[in-house]
Amino acid sequence: MAEVLTAIDLTKLHISNDATTDAAAARNEAAWAWYASIGSPKLFVAPLVGYSEPAFRVLCRTLGAQCCSTPMIDAAGYAASPRYRAEYAFSGGAADRPLTAQLGGSDPAALARAAALVAATGHCDAVELNMGCPQRCAKKTGSGAFLMEDPARAVACIKAMRAALDAHNAGRPAGAPKVACVVKIRCFDDVARTLALAAALERAGAEMLTVHGRTRHAGGGRRTAAQLANWDWIRAVKERAGIPVISNGNVRHAADVAACFEATGADGVMSGVGCLRRPHAVFTARAVSSRRDVAAMYCDAAAATSATPRQVHAHLVGKLALTSAAALRRAPDLRALLGALDTAHPWATTGTTPAALAKIFRDLPDDGGDDDRASDDEHGTPVDDGCGGWQKVWRDKRF
Ligand SMILES: Cc1cc2nc3c(=O)[nH]c(=O)nc-3n(C[C@H](O)[C@H](O)[C@H](O)COP(=O)(O)O)c2cc1C
Repeated sequence: MAEVLTAIDLTKLHISNDATTDAAAARNEAAWAWYASIGSPKLFVAPLVGYSEPAFRVLCRTLGAQCCSTPMIDAAGYAASPRYRAEYAFSGGAADRPLTAQLGGSDPAALARAAALVAATGHCDAVELNMGCPQRCAKKTGSGAFLMEDPARAVACIKAMRAALDAHNAGRPAGAPKVACVVKIRCFDDVARTLALAAALERAGAEMLTVHGRTRHAGGGRRTAAQLANWDWIRAVKERAGIPVISNGNVRHAADVAACFEATGADGVMSGVGCLRRPHAVFTARAVSSRRDVAAMYCDAAAATSATPRQVHAHLVGKLALTSAAALRRAPDLRALLGALDTAHPWATTGTTPAALAKIFRDLPDDGGDDDRASDDEHGTPVDDGCGGWQKVWRDKRF
């Protein structure tokens, strides 16, 4: 990692986050108090469209993750449509906290309305503005990473969300937890620009900042996505921020977690793609040695949280799946059962259930860690994460 990082001399940058004023000090103190109230989490699961549903979050928590995110929820859709809102059932209940609900959008009014509605469910501890999505759909609406190009609008979005959440918090029943306003950004090549944006978002009322240490362009395709996240950029933000900072990028193993804390000084570390396929390598609270066992644990969580067949299919089949290719080769019947899940139909039509799948995984022969070493086209080859723009190449031979 060290060779991809470039030294940044912060003393040459004249950027203020107004941390010296009384108002800023009180504001930041409140942010830290909220962070402490949710247990000062260190280990985070990234928001992942198509993947970070309740079952996966509960699985990661069982393995040691301390805070999770919903996938990005479209703020305008959530504000306008009860049917769309119903798609985001918080079926993990108390086992799925603390939880951040992530919103995508660039319209302050829609973001404020969606923030109020999702806070009112009583199922989340923070509402986050997505300022990291690099895809074409985000470009069209000036949202996600494209919102970083328009700091005035980004500030207006955070202010609107913060006002909605302040109103929610003021009216909540005694003893109900506060819902914080948080934000996830990428970085610019120009670190001064990133620091200025981070400071502006903090001043606007953001209470926690997750920094994905890649530029928008690094997330845009196979050719350029070979770039690793730059932890020096994240350290620069952490050194200037008055609120908790979470580092995101490059974390695939517990050793990466430790290295990331060391390199960035961040308050927490977030894993995305790494924890999709081998969450037990990132979160190590329980000794789980094989993906066979992780897949079975995921099926348990799917049963407990009423995951849909399609959600289970996403996690058990495919390039970023919990099931190794080696396991599928050993169990052709399992392959057929998993194939039948790729539908919008209910469990009754699939010929199986999450509980039955859990048993099949548990009955597979113990691979003794072979799955992690198997040459099943998983090592160092380009990974298509199934999400169009979110692609990267793992050069690290440990993956
Ligand atoms: C399939 C997929 C879906 C993603 N969905 C979201 C999302 O909904 N919101 C978001 O802020 N980032 C999203 N991301 C980005 C991740 O949250 C994370 O920032 C990125 O993968 C970098 O972390 P990593 O190096 O640990 O993978 C997604 C990434 C992937 C691979």
